[in-house]
Order: sequence, then structure tokens, then C-alpha cells
Amino acid sequence: MSKATFNPTRFNNSNNTPFNEVMDKHLSRRNFVKRGLGLSAMTAFGGFGLSACGSDNNDSSTPATPTTPTTPTAPTQSSAVLGFESIPGSLTDAVAVPAGYSAYVLAPWGTPLNSKAAAWKDDGSNTADDQANSVGMHHDGMHFFPLNDAGDDGLLCINHEYIDEDALHPTGPTYDTDGKRSVIDEVRKEINAHGVSVVRIKLVSGMWQVVENDSYNRRFTGASVMDIAGPLAYSSYLETRYSPDGSQARGTLNNCGNGYTPWGTYLTCEENWPEYFVNKGEKTESQSRIGIPSTDTRYGWNHLAGNDDERLDEFARFDMTPTGSSAANDYRNESNGHGYIVEIDPYNPNSRAVKRTALGRFRHEGCVFGKLEEGKPLTFYSGHDSRFEYLYKFVSDAVWDAADANSSNRLSMGDKYMNAGTLYVAKFSEDGVGEWLPLTLDGMTTDGGTLADSFSSLEEIILNTAGAADLVGATPMDRPEWAAVDPFTGSVYLTLTNNSRRTESTNPANPRLNNNFGHIIRWDEGEAATDFSWDIFVFGSPDDGDAETNLSGLTDLNQFASPDGLAFDTRGILWVQTDNGASEVGEETNDQMLAIVPSTMLDADGNQQVVSADNQTQLKRFFVGPNGCEVTGFAITPDYTTVFANIQHPGNWPYSDKADEETPAGITVRPRAATVMIRKDDGGAVGV
Ligand code: FEO
Ligand code: CA
Ligand code: CA
Repeated sequence: MSKATFNPTRFNNSNNTPFNEVMDKHLSRRNFVKRGLGLSAMTAFGGFGLSACGSDNNDSSTPATPTTPTTPTAPTQSSAVLGFESIPGSLTDAVAVPAGYSAYVLAPWGTPLNSKAAAWKDDGSNTADDQANSVGMHHDGMHFFPLNDAGDDGLLCINHEYIDEDALHPTGPTYDTDGKRSVIDEVRKEINAHGVSVVRIKLVSGMWQVVENDSYNRRFTGASVMDIAGPLAYSSYLETRYSPDGSQARGTLNNCGNGYTPWGTYLTCEENWPEYFVNKGEKTESQSRIGIPSTDTRYGWNHLAGNDDERLDEFARFDMTPTGSSAANDYRNESNGHGYIVEIDPYNPNSRAVKRTALGRFRHEGCVFGKLEEGKPLTFYSGHDSRFEYLYKFVSDAVWDAADANSSNRLSMGDKYMNAGTLYVAKFSEDGVGEWLPLTLDGMTTDGGTLADSFSSLEEIILNTAGAADLVGATPMDRPEWAAVDPFTGSVYLTLTNNSRRTESTNPANPRLNNNFGHIIRWDEGEAATDFSWDIFVFGSPDDGDAETNLSGLTDLNQFASPDGLAFDTRGILWVQTDNGASEVGEETNDQMLAIVPSTMLDADGNQQVVSADNQTQLKRFFVGPNGCEVTGFAITPDYTTVFANIQHPGNWPYSDKADEETPAGITVRPRAATVMIRKDDGGAVGV
């Protein structure tokens, strides 16, 4: 998240608490031991060659070799064994890694991508144009796209979630005597610091370096023109003065979690975007449900509307209060172009980004595809990160053809698999089973009707995805963040970061009141597209939490709170990143990244286990970030020799390129979010 932009408001007032009894105040562990999420469930995913799961696809990758679904040839569990010792917690202005590893800063905020940008200046005086041609601020989700088989040359796509205005400008943002933003270049710089960076990097003598002026380098900002695809393309709901035919929207904002596709494109997710807009008039139902503000925008970008130097309503568009005679004459629909999964083809520097509206419109955290199976639909999972919000999946109409992984027309693959399909929302039931509820006009509502009673089209359902999910009886969750899919088992894992406002009722999937520490839930799809089975993999907790708190038996060497970033690498290692706000853990360690290999944690019957006191040494702390930061975004090279992670909103870092040295007392710096590359000193595979 970012405590800075997270909106604590409970927007979901639907009282959707299908299982609203407090289940068991004593929370005995048996409540969480999974029922039958055994490896047998894997046959539903089919035996599937690992090559097809190796999704760092690019034009030069080997075509995936599908096997028939009934051929049990693929390994059903990882062979990875974590080869490092869990490291102690750390509270310094540096990063911490295990013995035998080193970490270095790469591509910090303000790194020039081309010759139009001046070098980053430590007084905050870089211009808006500099920022448009440099790496953005507050790095978040990320993926590495290789450019060769050796994996020492590639493109890093980096999300930039939000900005620290005090660090971005020499002395913070400027306001006039009326409290309005008054400096155009400042506001443009803020808009340009948002979005996504595509950065060419090369490994030279064991160190990754940004390739300046490379033709692949590019920025997508809060102002970049993007295409709308899927059900809302050319919809009247997207008509604006800028795009009267509803075909385009400007910018991507608050890009938090990410995903990627099997065909080699990047997915960036629009999370806490509503606060960038304002409607001072009467709000629509969907605007109220998602939380569009009534008084002002987050950073006041609308304040400069009508300024003589404004170009193409670049500031006016953030104020959606109707002023014109129709939607084509104002920006009442501007925010309808936001809240989506956005697809970017990093391999084609001339391509536009595409907003994939079929995957729903909400505060998307991440987007991950389910285990691939030839001839079966593709599934994408995405959580809505707000308190009491829901988990969604999109199932494509098109069925998977492994040859598409190597298409050179990558965005057309997005058109094929991401524009038409069915959006579902999750209902978690007792006894470890669950149901995916379709968000379609004929989707059943809890009052015995259908969504057609409340919506006249699929477009309307998508615009107010959360409102539709309320009506069908989805399960309110403790802030769904990132999801990740085990390449061996197909099990899907989802971080539920925390929910301190869960004060009245729990449900089976969110069983702790005042859930300050969060948990990770997982599920396996069932035989039918609407069925799944689930359990809770691990609960965050301080190591000295009582028996009702430290349900997973965490120790000093792996205590964590507020799990957020989550990723599997193709070896089956699950990487867990934290964005902790709980002092009980925060006083022991800064935010961190842990690792575990879930598919190897089996009981005597071959069923996957949860983290418990009996096996908690499997969960190891690998990395700790500097003071004040959140650790977020994970990428790894195809040869596993470099892991990339992002340090967002550090307090006082990096003071030099040597992130492993502590800042001497008394020295403070203008903090810079950055990617950190983590390598073994002997050049071997990271983690094992
Ligand atoms: Fe931007 Fe939900 O973390
Ligand atoms: Ca978060
Ligand atoms: Ca996050």
C-alpha cells in the first residue's frame, strides 16, 4: 500500500457478512487446518511442463511444450531447498541480506532514461520534463523481461505507486494563499513521477546497470494516452471532452501490484486511484461505492484548471463535477477510464498501453494468471485492496494455445484472452470450500433475483464491480493484496494484509478480530469453474504473540506482519514481502522479504501443510529493508542469479551505492525509492 495513500474508509457498506458469527473466539488451530487441499487436486490442473510456466517469455524463448492433461509427467513438488540461514531482524538505514549475498541499488527515482533528462539533483530541482524522461518515484510492482537467453540483458518494468511531495520538490509543494496549487511545473512533475518505467538493464562484471538512452527505455506517466479495450471500449460511459468516442483515457495512477502475461507483456494495476479525482456535485452510485472524494483531490492537480498555460485540460480533467451540456463537453466520466488492469508491451517501444476493462474496475492490487493448461481458459486473479473488499477472478472465453506464448503481436494476445470472459467474485464458506459467483447480468443475487435487476449492461456491472459483488454475496476480506500461483501445484496464494477495523464479525476466511498482522490464504480451483477449496497458509504475528495471535508459531527469525507483495519464482519458492504498520513487529525489524517452498511441505498423506510450530523453520527471512521503507515488487532473472526487489518510501536511504553500509549518525539524505539487486557473491542461484 503505502500508509500515505491507503484510504481507511470502509466503502463497502453492504453488510455482506454471509458468515457473520464470530466463529470461535478461541481460534483453535484446527479451524485453519486445511480440509483436503491435497496434491490430488493437482490433477485438475493437469500435468503441465514447467516450460509453460516459465512465464518470462520473450521472442527468443523456447515454445512451451504442452502435455496432455492426464499425463502425470510434470513434477508435483518443487525440488528447491532454501540454502541460506534466516537472518535476524534489522532496524538500520541499510538493507540486510544473508551471509554470502550482496545487495546493490539500481535505478533509483530520477535516474535518467534518455538524453532529454538532466541528471538527478539532490536538491529536488529537476523539472517536469526531466521527470518524464527519468525513472519515476516510489517503486512498487515489477517484472524482468529478458532480451537474450543468457538472461544478462533485459527490461525491468517498474510501477511507481505514488509520490512524496516533500522529496520531489526543493521545499515541498507550493500553495497560494487560498491553499491552491500554484506552480504548473510542480504539478506536471508529480503527474510524471507516477506510472511505469521500462528500463533496459545489462549485467556487467556482476553488476546490473541501467542502459541510458536505450531505445527500449520509456515512461508511462499519469498523463500518457492509453487505449480502452474490452466491454467499456467506445462506451458512452467513457466519453470525455478529450476522448468523445470513449476509446482512450489519459494516464495510469497509483500503480501498485503488477502481473505479467504468458505472452510476454507487463500488467500494471491501478490501486488507490479514486482520490486523484473529485466530484463536488451529486455522485453516481459507482462513484460513491468506490470512494470518489467530494471536496478535493489528493494532490490538488485540479487546482490549476483554466490556467493560461494548461494544455488539453491536463488539470481540469481531475475535477469531474459536471459543467458542460453533455459528457462530451466536460470530464464527468474521467475516472471511468481508471481502475483497471493495464497491459504494456515492453518489447515494443512504440506500442500504447491498453486498459483491459473486462477484468473489472476497482482498487486493483495485483493480477496473476492461474496455472496454464492447453485447451482450457486462462484465469487471472486480482484482489481489491480496501477493508472488507473482495477477491476476483476473470476466466477468458478463449482457450489457451501454448503457441501464443511466442506471438510477436503480443497486445493482440491480450485482445484474445483479456477482452472477453467472465468475471467472478469469491465467496469463502466454512469447511474450506468456496464458490466463485459470476458478475454477469444473470448472476444470482442474495435476494433471489439477478444482477439484471440492478444493472442494464455488463458495462455497468464492470464500472461498479464492487457494487455488483455486494449484491451476489461475496465474502468481505481483510484487504486482499497480491496473489501468486505455485508453478507445481497450481495452488493460488493471496496476502490479506491487515484489517484493524474488523471489530465486530469475522468469517471463516478472515477469522481474527482486529487483524493487525494479516494472513496468507490459499486455494485450489475445483472441477467446476465456480468451485474452489481453501485454507489459511500462515498468520502474521509477533513472535511473542499469545496463542490466539501467533497461530503459526513464528519466531524471532521469521515474525512478520502485514504481508503484501507476493510472488512465486518458477522453482516453486514463494517470496513474501511486508508493508507493516504494527509496532509489535515493527520494533523488532523493518519491512522484509521472506521465502518458503510450500509444495515441499507435505504430510504423510501427501497433503500440503500450513505453516505451524512444527515446520516454521521452513519460513526464512531473506532480506530486510532500510528504516521507514516498504519492501515491494519481486523479479528474478531466468537463471535465478539475481533477485530484484523494490524499496519504497525509505526514510533516509540510499546515501550511497553501498546499501549495506549504515548511514553514519547525523547524515540525512533526500530519500529515493530504488530497486535493489540481490546476488550471491559466488554468482550462484539466489535462495538455494
Ligand atoms: Fe499499494 Fe495495497 O498496496
Ligand atoms: Ca500494501
Ligand atoms: Ca502493495
